[in-house]
Amino acid sequence: MKLMISAGPTREAIDPVRFITNHSSGKMGYALAEAAVAAGYEVYLVSGPVNLKQPDGLAEFIPVISAADMAKAVKDRFPVMDAFISCAAVADYRPVEISAQKIHKQDGDMILRLERTEDILQSLGQMKAAHQTLIGFAAETEDLRARALSKMERKNLDWIAANTVGVPGRGFQADTNAVTLYARTGEVVDFPLTDKKTLAEQMLQTIFSKKG
Ligand code: PMT
Repeated sequence: MKLMISAGPTREAIDPVRFITNHSSGKMGYALAEAAVAAGYEVYLVSGPVNLKQPDGLAEFIPVISAADMAKAVKDRFPVMDAFISCAAVADYRPVEISAQKIHKQDGDMILRLERTEDILQSLGQMKAAHQTLIGFAAETEDLRARALSKMERKNLDWIAANTVGVPGRGFQADTNAVTLYARTGEVVDFPLTDKKTLAEQMLQTIFSKKG
């Protein structure tokens, strides 16, 4: 099985020295990639900038920086994949203009205009063929279930892994996490707090032994 996984944050440049990003360390996505290699899958890892060792045994490692880079890397490869897990924390907005030179401070406030990036997973939901399985994550600080179910619907996903962020020990940066997996079929599976490696193994077993 050919499985593509995205991991880590994106960086949206403001000028040559500054960018907009988020707290994703890549640990959850890399744990999924390692568990998938161990399970014998052909694994393609598309990674934003992280400080992690590249997992052994990948079919391909594709480093990217921005949401636009990630969109291109993922959409180019998706047609030949059996499944895609979108674990990356992709920026929803980027600066309208990237200054070619360092922006120097002036008196008073500065306004940064932002525009929407492409919703990569939503694009893939529209491209998806019947044999392909699409899995997203929902990272939320409130209304976890409702927001996750709405994202599964809007992005045409087969599964969504809902996790809480902004709380120590789960979500961004932590070595542990807890998720609830919702399937399009209505199945709901709770994975209590555990290390991201164990969680990744359990999630893959649930998703690919039953095909949601
Ligand atoms: O990397 P770690 O430090 O280990 O942290 C793990 C994690 C918290 C980043 C991970 O478990 C997680 O929740 N990843 C998804 C983060 C996210 O961007 O969630 P979201 O609810 O904003 O987005 C919903 C889904 O759409 C996600 O699958 C996301 O990859 C995708 N998306 C979002 C925006 C966008 N422009 N394009 C997308 O494809």
